[in-house]
Amino acid sequence: MNLYDRIPNNVNLNEDLRLQRALEKWLPNYLDWWREMGPAGFQEKEVYLRTAISVEPDGWAHYDYVKMPDYRWGVFLAPPEPEAKIGFGDNYGKPAYQEVPGEFRNPLRRIIVTQGDTEPASVEQQRRLGHTCPSLYDLRNLFQVNVEEGRHLWAMVYLLHGYFGRDGREEAEELLRRRSGDPDKPRILQAFNQPCDDWLNFYCFTMFTDRDGKYQLCALAESGFEPLARTCKFMLTEEAYHMFVGEAGVGRVVRRSAQLMKESRNGDARELGGVPLDVVQKYINFWYSYSLDLFGGEISSNSADFFASGLKGRYRERELFEDHVASDGVLKIEVVENDQVKSREAPLRNALNEVLRGEYAKDCERGLARWNKTLADEGVAERLYLPSRRFHRRVGEYAKHCYDIHGAQISRDEFERRASEWLPTAQDREYLRSLMTPVTEPGKIANWIAPPATGTNRQPFDFEYVRL
Ligand SMILES: [Fe+2]
Ligand SMILES: [Fe+2]
Repeated sequence: MNLYDRIPNNVNLNEDLRLQRALEKWLPNYLDWWREMGPAGFQEKEVYLRTAISVEPDGWAHYDYVKMPDYRWGVFLAPPEPEAKIGFGDNYGKPAYQEVPGEFRNPLRRIIVTQGDTEPASVEQQRRLGHTCPSLYDLRNLFQVNVEEGRHLWAMVYLLHGYFGRDGREEAEELLRRRSGDPDKPRILQAFNQPCDDWLNFYCFTMFTDRDGKYQLCALAESGFEPLARTCKFMLTEEAYHMFVGEAGVGRVVRRSAQLMKESRNGDARELGGVPLDVVQKYINFWYSYSLDLFGGEISSNSADFFASGLKGRYRERELFEDHVASDGVLKIEVVENDQVKSREAPLRNALNEVLRGEYAKDCERGLARWNKTLADEGVAERLYLPSRRFHRRVGEYAKHCYDIHGAQISRDEFERRASEWLPTAQDREYLRSLMTPVTEPGKIANWIAPPATGTNRQPFDFEYVRL
C-alpha cells in the first residue's frame, strides 16, 4: 500500500520523511486503540460511510461501504491563505506563525492536547451504543461521528508530531492512553468522562457537547499559528454534521413523544413506551451544564494570554470585530462575591471565555426553538428550555455555590434534595435503557423516536446503511 493509501493527506507527507515516520509509527498504536475502544461489536461490519478525500468545498467527501478499522483516517488542512497575518492580540497584523513560537510553546501544546483529548474520549463514551440502535440509519450516523472523531484525533496528532518534536510525540501517545471515565487515567475535561450509554444521551451529547467543540474550533480557526487554524477550519466541516445528528436526533425524540402523548389516554408518553418530555428536559439540563463548563472560568487569565499571544481568537474574529487588539475594553460580567452574584467590570481579554460561552448559548437557544416548534406543530402545550447558566456548574464562578434551574441561589442541601427534579435519576436512565432494544431491519424504527425527514446522502430511509 502506498503512503497516500495508508495516510491520505494534503500536507505533502511524502516530502517530509521525519513526520512520515512518526505518523507511521503512531498508526498501529492508533489502530490498537480503535480496536480496543472503538465501537464494540461492529468492527467487521460494512458501514456506508463518508470519507474526507480532499478539502474542495464541493467534493471533499466520498461515500462507500467500509469496515471501520479500514477507514482512511487522513490529515487534511484547509488551503493556506497567501501572506496570512496574525488576526488579533498583541502581534496583530504581523505574519502568522508557521512554526511554534518558542515563548508560547507550552500553552499552544496545551490547547492542542486538550482539544485532541476530547476526540477519542467521545468515541470511548459512545462505544456500546451500537447494540441498542433505534434504526440502521442511526447506527450509521453513530459510526460516522465516531470515525470522524478519530480523524480529528489524527488532525491534532499531526500538529503534535509535525511541530512539537519529542514532547509532541509523547503527548500523542498519552492521547491513546487516557480513557473516558477511568478513575486512574481519565480524559482531561469532565464532560468527556460522563457515561453516554443510551441514545438520548448520544443525541444530547452531539447537540450540546459537540457544539462546544464547534465554538472551540471556531476560536482556534482564527489562530495566528497557521497550521492550527487551517486544521480547525477543515474539522468544522465535519463537526457540522455531528451537531445535525444531535439536534435532529433530539427533535425526532421530541416529535415521537408528542405523538405518543396525544395517543395515550392520560397524555403520558411513558404509557406507550415513549420518552416523557420531563426526562428529555433533565437530559438537556445535564449536558448543557457540563458543556458550559468546557468554556472555562468567567474571568480567566488563560483566555487573556491566549488572546494576547494570538493563539486563540474570538468567534468569527475577522468578521464580527473591528478592534482586534482589544487591550483596553471592559465587559460587565457576573461574578460571585461574598456569596452573592454581582455584576462587575472585567478587562475584555479576561472575559473571552464568557463571550464565547454567550455565542454558544445563543446557538443552543436556536435548537431549543426548533424543538419547541415541533411540539407546537404536534399540538402539544409543553415546552423545553435551557436551564440558567448558573445551574449545576463545576467550573468557574458558579461552581462555588448551588443554584436552582432558574439560577436562584439555594443551599447544597436543597440542591441535593431537589436534584432529581432537574437531573436524570438512576430510574430515568434505567427506563431509557429499557426502551432501547435494537432495531436493525432496513426501514424499521424504534417506537420511541420518529424517523428522519430524509436519509443520508440522498439515500432512502430504508437503505441498508450497515450490512449486518
Ligand atoms: Fe471532533
Ligand atoms: Fe464532533
